[in-house]
Amino acid sequence: MPFTVLVVDDDADTRENLRDILELDGFHVEIAGTVADALLRDDWDRYGAVLLDRKLPDGTAEDLLPQLRRLIPAAPVIVITGSADVQATIAAFRLGAADYILKPINSDELRTRLGRIADHRRSQKALQERTEELRITTQQLWQAARLAGVGELAASIAHELNNPLGTISLRIEGLLSKTPSDDPRYKSLEIVGNEVERMAGLVSNLLQFSRASVDKVSTVDVCDEVRRTLELVEYHLRKQQIRVETEFALVVPVIYADRQQLRQVLLNLFTNAADAMPSGGRLTPRVRPSSLPGGVPAVAIEVTDSGVGIPSELLPRVSEPFFTTKPEGKGTGLGLAICRRIVQQHRGTLEVESRLGEGTTIRITFPIRSDSNVGGLHLG
Ligand SMILES: Nc1ncnc2c1ncn2[C@@H]1O[C@H](COP(=O)(O)OP(=O)(O)OP(=O)(O)O)[C@@H](O)[C@H]1O
Ligand SMILES: [Mg+2]
Repeated sequence: MPFTVLVVDDDADTRENLRDILELDGFHVEIAGTVADALLRDDWDRYGAVLLDRKLPDGTAEDLLPQLRRLIPAAPVIVITGSADVQATIAAFRLGAADYILKPINSDELRTRLGRIADHRRSQKALQERTEELRITTQQLWQAARLAGVGELAASIAHELNNPLGTISLRIEGLLSKTPSDDPRYKSLEIVGNEVERMAGLVSNLLQFSRASVDKVSTVDVCDEVRRTLELVEYHLRKQQIRVETEFALVVPVIYADRQQLRQVLLNLFTNAADAMPSGGRLTPRVRPSSLPGGVPAVAIEVTDSGVGIPSELLPRVSEPFFTTKPEGKGTGLGLAICRRIVQQHRGTLEVESRLGEGTTIRITFPIRSDSNVGGLHLG
């Protein structure tokens, strides 16, 4: 942003001289001829300094100074004064002038003084920006730590739930085996049994997701992983009126990958898609054979939603760590960053396509063997 100087002087020649001198030094100059004219301005924040003639047709520097201090407290005001006006100059300092400069104006002196002010302002701004950056980063780290804490809590609760669920399940089985199938209680027991099984499934899924990944590479059936991850969010999707339509190719080769990490990627993508469709929509996960540059055999997973979409200017930023458009407490902005890291570790690719108001497709392509041409897969 250029440093803008407001010059308030009623003498047209002086004004134009000042403009020429200052513009040569890269300052941006605006001109006012009277007190009233000066006060007509808006957007006061853009001014970095004011050069103020002491005598103006409709007042003096002393009339204008208090208002300038109020409107632009951070911009220093330099009073242009004649050598005979010492008393008046002192009065101007009392009213908040930062400096004065004598007429006739020495251009080198003026440039030096303004240059110093501009440098000072710039370093002040940089300091402010850095403080703000630090504040934001601290807040993000805090949020990430809190999220990790929640994950741990969820895992420990899931763990605790496992045992009682096991007991209930056993008891129900026992009761069922002793109840004749035409007994009116049989149906109820069966329903309870099924529901307990569903809970156990959820708990074990939750445990798998929250357990720290051990970077284990094994053969993975991608379609199967998509199905299992969908199961985990099924309830959430249904509640939000989201219809799921999977499109799996008939034959999809297994890939060598870290199963936990693949699930984490899928979960993040499904969660993002759900967030993008707050009033319902369609989620289409697709899996098909594909290839990566150089003809490396691969499997592509696409997750398409019919949600709000991403503005094109934000597209390059969505997988930056901590980039989020979600309200505080809702998103940490880590989801896609984690996906990208995992995909890169598998030597795959992640692409985002989106149309505002129509929906988004995230395509990730995993090589079938991420270790095939690089001699060793390094995960973690
Ligand atoms: N399917 C999508 N539709 C629309 N916008 C999306 C979609 N996926 C991601 N985004 C945009 O990208 C941003 C970053 O996504 P990312 O998953 O990294 O973080 P988040 O969802 O905001 O938070 P977190 O995943 O950590 O809870 C989102 O805030 C959102 O603006
Ligand atoms: Mg997310």
